[in-house]
Amino acid sequence: MGKADERRKTQIEFINSGAEIEVGDASEAPLAISELIAIDGSSAYVEKHIGSGLTADIYKLKINGKSWNLKKKRAEILVRNIDGRTSFLNEVQRRGDFERLKKANAQAYRGIVDTAYASLNKGIILSHWIEGVPVKKYTREIFADLFNTLYHIETAGLFEYDLCPGNLLLQSDGSVRLFDFGYMYPYSPLKEFNPDGMQLPLFHPAERFETRSFMQHLMDMEDDQGIEAALVEYRSEKEAALEYYERRIKWLIENAADPGIVEWSKSFAGLWKKGLSGRAELAKLYGTESMRSYILDIYDDVGGRSCTRETLKKVDRVLSKIEAGNSFLFADPLFSLDGGELDRDRLLNKYTEIKKRVIEYQL
Ligand SMILES: Nc1ncnc2c1ncn2[C@@H]1O[C@H](COP(=O)(O)OP(=O)(O)OP(=O)(O)O)[C@@H](O)[C@H]1O
Ligand SMILES: [Mg+2]
Repeated sequence: MGKADERRKTQIEFINSGAEIEVGDASEAPLAISELIAIDGSSAYVEKHIGSGLTADIYKLKINGKSWNLKKKRAEILVRNIDGRTSFLNEVQRRGDFERLKKANAQAYRGIVDTAYASLNKGIILSHWIEGVPVKKYTREIFADLFNTLYHIETAGLFEYDLCPGNLLLQSDGSVRLFDFGYMYPYSPLKEFNPDGMQLPLFHPAERFETRSFMQHLMDMEDDQGIEAALVEYRSEKEAALEYYERRIKWLIENAADPGIVEWSKSFAGLWKKGLSGRAELAKLYGTESMRSYILDIYDDVGGRSCTRETLKKVDRVLSKIEAGNSFLFADPLFSLDGGELDRDRLLNKYTEIKKRVIEYQL
């Protein structure tokens, strides 16, 4: 059984046991817990029903002039896969982790939402309201702030898979906050690449941000403003990512990480340094990393049967790269995709088939 399956099994057992996890102090919550549980769209405290996600209903509450976010677990979680079913438990577990981490080092975890109260069995998570907006334009400060938070997350032994635009809020002081931890899992950063253990070197924090948010943003930018504008923003992100990984490598060495983990992190830093050395190198690195992210996104979208026009655009980009003879990506262990398959025709066939699914699963 792989690491991820072990985690799933343990979490499902936990849910079935009926055990409770409570975070925060009920007596300090702005309302009695019974009142929080009873809240629905008709409640006087509800300023806005933000949405019904697949796992939870989300409300903005106003209580005595102060704003809060209430996440209420749905009676039946609509995500059919195991990670969907464990996501509420997982989030409550992470809320507990972060409240402990914040007590020890509030400054390091300022990019993480504050939890007022959470209960697994009562199915509620009450957070302080984050006054923020989705990121429309990335800046060097945003990259640096986000990567600083990711550094503190990973050095605490946690890994966030879902850094999608809907899970990031930009505040007016230019800092970024994270608040959705349904897919953030524990791991041993000194011994493992990520919560999948040693199986998937492809996944790392900068990649997660690029795959879930940034490469889509750059693809749109290419369309609106051209490739040069996208490359300027990509360079800025890579500079910040390089600083982040140099800090990460230092931490790994200081904490006697396994040499394979140090080398793996150094490989990315080396790759990015080379990419940052000139326009042609940068464009090549962008070609490689964007293609990796497109492919991972395509797999996600096809797997979830939720494809969009963007998915189609990505699969077309992948196909034209393969047609042009670019199978280098599949051979590189840092990007090891498709089991290292290199044969151009087989890759073309494979992605032509995938494209059919992408068309079939358009939302
Ligand atoms: N503490 C908060 N302050 C302000 N807004 C919040 C807060 N928590 C959540 N939100 C808003 O509610 C939305 C959904 O919250 P969240 O991502 O936690 O739930 P979710 O179950 O993942 O929903 P979805 O499936 O839509 O991602 C966020 O995109 C954000 O706009
Ligand atoms: Mg979310």
